[in-house]
Amino acid sequence: MLETLAQKAPDPLLKIIKMFREDPRSDKIDLGVGVYRDAAGATPVMRAVKDAEALLLAGQKTKTYVGQQGDVDFLRLVGQLAFGEMSRDFVSIQAVGGTGALRLGCDLLRESGAKRVLLPAPCWPNHPSIVRAARLEAMDVAFFNIAEQRIDMDALIAGFDRAERGDGVILQACCHNPLGADFSLEQWRTLAEALNARGLIPFVDLAYQGFGDGVDEDVAGARALLERVPEALIAVSEAKSFGIYRERVGALYVKTAEKARAAAMSNLAAIARANYSMPPDHGAAVVREVLSDDALRASWREELDEIRGHIKRTRVALAAERVNSIPMHLIADQKGMFSTLPLNEAQVAALRETHGIYMTDAARINVAGLRAADIPRFVDALRAVA
Ligand SMILES: Cc1ncc(COP(=O)(O)O)c(C=O)c1O
Repeated sequence: MLETLAQKAPDPLLKIIKMFREDPRSDKIDLGVGVYRDAAGATPVMRAVKDAEALLLAGQKTKTYVGQQGDVDFLRLVGQLAFGEMSRDFVSIQAVGGTGALRLGCDLLRESGAKRVLLPAPCWPNHPSIVRAARLEAMDVAFFNIAEQRIDMDALIAGFDRAERGDGVILQACCHNPLGADFSLEQWRTLAEALNARGLIPFVDLAYQGFGDGVDEDVAGARALLERVPEALIAVSEAKSFGIYRERVGALYVKTAEKARAAAMSNLAAIARANYSMPPDHGAAVVREVLSDDALRASWREELDEIRGHIKRTRVALAAERVNSIPMHLIADQKGMFSTLPLNEAQVAALRETHGIYMTDAARINVAGLRAADIPRFVDALRAVA
């Protein structure tokens, strides 16, 4: 039976990572991997996280299961950080990373009768796989003009007409992966109206809070949307905001009418129970410790400011350069770690093969992966291929 399994294609990013590792050139540049890197090229453990881990090591009395919902203090604190007071009315469950939260939410949508999830394209490449794994149709809708580096709201809203009431729409809250292009406050309000008019359910994906303009600024648009819609799902990942990627820290929040909340919670509990039963503890406990202690919270915010400052400086430096067909100046307006350059696969391959510069096949660059000293060489290489 098992020998009938067909080979699956490997993740395209893994192919790039392997090629980079095997490239012997000492001046190669890795803009492919999606983790934050500081000016020295490292992804260090944040100071507040180290301190919280020391407290946990000293104080933890038991390793018995956390409850089915997960760490309720973690859920309250993360909810408050992301959505303020309105989070009190949300149903919540801890998840195995933002990915796990997206999967729980898609499973919940399917249980509620949804048939499809709309994905403004290009989306995070894992979104379609998660949607399909939940046995929903993943439907791409036009959203972004890569050559002009601008959001096309008309195309996006026209795409909403291809869905039916109760279907979901994944919207990234901030620091869009892979585009770096975020909705303005006004566009979020327009989205709320368009979703309400069609009975579609927004599924907000919040994976980079604090990486764009600030912890509160980065969620202002999503909050404006959530205030205006009767129902919504929100997947939160703390992988980036706390630099705890491998700890798999996430949560799913659900906004729905009061009378529907107990049923929503029971469905989420059942989905999680049949999947991994109870969530992992450590990473969520770290986030809980940091957010509930004034000194640790201040230290975390300070380090997050440094991270954001580093990304912004790199964006501004890139935006000051001129490269033939690429509107470089827009890179400074974009947010977070990623931008997608208007380059075709042949140009991406030339950057890799001739210049030792690695990015995804779709020309997504991790801005945080670019060291200041490498910017001139990167820009020269872009001029040579674009
Ligand atoms: C847009 C987006 N959503 C969700 C995630 C999931 O993050 P994780 O599962 O590592 O918490 C990521 C991670 O790269 C992401 O870029």
